[in-house]
Amino acid sequence: MNSINKKLFVALDFSDLKHTLEFVEIVKNYVGGLKLGLEFFTKNGIAGVEKIKKYGLPIFLDLKFNDIPNTVNRAASNVLSLNPEYLTIHINGGRRMIEGIASIKKRTKIIGVTMLTSLDNRDLVDLCIDEESSEYVKKLSLLGQKSGLDGVVSSVSELKVLKQAMPENFIFVTPGINFKMQNKDQKRTSNPGEAIKSGSSILIIGRTITMSSDPLKVLMEINQEITKNNVSSN
Ligand code: C5P
Repeated sequence: MNSINKKLFVALDFSDLKHTLEFVEIVKNYVGGLKLGLEFFTKNGIAGVEKIKKYGLPIFLDLKFNDIPNTVNRAASNVLSLNPEYLTIHINGGRRMIEGIASIKKRTKIIGVTMLTSLDNRDLVDLCIDEESSEYVKKLSLLGQKSGLDGVVSSVSELKVLKQAMPENFIFVTPGINFKMQNKDQKRTSNPGEAIKSGSSILIIGRTITMSSDPLKVLMEINQEITKNNVSSN
């Protein structure tokens, strides 16, 4: 696999373990890592993650913790022992929650979710947040970085601003990526070429691949897009 395509992580949003394992068998040589989120984890738990870990690919454990510091620390300890490459929390859990998890992690990189890619400016109004999405994402990212995060999740459209504001080794994770199909619940979307050109460190792609009748074909096409649009400055 071309090394740049190591940036592509597939979101395994499945409940069924057998189906997930069969799917990983198909894609394992063409992705940089595997993202396991709430759907997989609430059905299959720690034992399920251990089964997926056996493939030897980096695991992005997307559990989006958001609770009081004590609860998050204890829950995080239960999964940090799995040594996932990445673990997510919500930045709006606040400074003390983030500092707490940053202080107990070992080799796992803690990634903060800024504003979900399923939200847009109108949703911020509903949530009584008096900011444009790019400004809101930037402020949350700065708080996260100062509190000890290794990286953030944002949409591709905020990357330019974030890359200027954050240290060089900071990790920029971008979901909300469409390719030849549109996921209707995602609002702040982009495509693989734009994501890589904008300096994304990890592209998270789920249903575009997992719901396809030929996942490997879509995966190869996405990997070609990534390679074609890669710029050496990333
Ligand atoms: O299927 P799709 O490509 O939209 O999947 C995106 C994945 O990224 C989902 O697993 C979703 O939970 C996750 N995610 C997201 N937006 C965030 C953080 C994570 O879509 N801000």
